[in-house]
Amino acid sequence: MDAGRLKAYSQAVFLQERACAINAVLPEDVSPLSGDQLLEIFGALIDQKDPYTGGHSRRVAALAGPVAAALSLPERLQRDVRAAGHLHDIGKVSVPRRILTKRGPLSQIEFRQVQRHVETGARILEGIPSLRHLAPACRYHHEHWDGGGYIEGLSHERIPIVAQILAVCDAYDAMTSSRAYREARNHEYALGEIEVEIGSHFAPAIARSFLSLSDDVLQAVIGERRDVLAATPSASSPRTRARRAVAE
Ligand SMILES: [Fe+2]
Repeated sequence: MDAGRLKAYSQAVFLQERACAINAVLPEDVSPLSGDQLLEIFGALIDQKDPYTGGHSRRVAALAGPVAAALSLPERLQRDVRAAGHLHDIGKVSVPRRILTKRGPLSQIEFRQVQRHVETGARILEGIPSLRHLAPACRYHHEHWDGGGYIEGLSHERIPIVAQILAVCDAYDAMTSSRAYREARNHEYALGEIEVEIGSHFAPAIARSFLSLSDDVLQAVIGERRDVLAATPSASSPRTRARRAVAE
């Protein structure tokens, strides 16, 4: 086994042990945690790495579910989309916190380290039999429809549909969240960016499904974050900084 696979295997074992430990400490009259609850806990552990992204994985899952439903995907695939939303950034456990929270621009080496989270995450999921089928969604969630993304530069239908859905929801939440290096953009700004990037960053059918979500659905997800509706649109910080958030 090469060093990368060994590291991913140990991270998978670590996460499985945590899941068992969580269930082991529950009082006897509390039923074991459901799969959905464990996914939410994993997502929270991932987001914990960067205080600026608190709740990101949960929100991506909550946005991705309605998009999958709007696309009338089979129920099994809709479940995968929600689960992958919770786990898509699991590889960030291997990215140093000082890089994730760095205020200034990332060096090329640092950006490469961030980009590797998709590969690390996919390897972690490949090491967990019940989650192995989600690895491609994790590996390809930063690919762009026109082939301009990473990690392999896949384009069009070669990008798994779950990854295409994650890409839009991830970008929306990244733009509307504050980061160490810039303030959150507001809801309208993020929707405008998604529209502009249809056919370049985002798969047309998926992006249009996202944009067609009712305000009620979006409100239910972002309702806890009134700041999104009031945040500065764009004037205070350059567009390139929004792009950094989306690229991570
Ligand atoms: Fe990511």
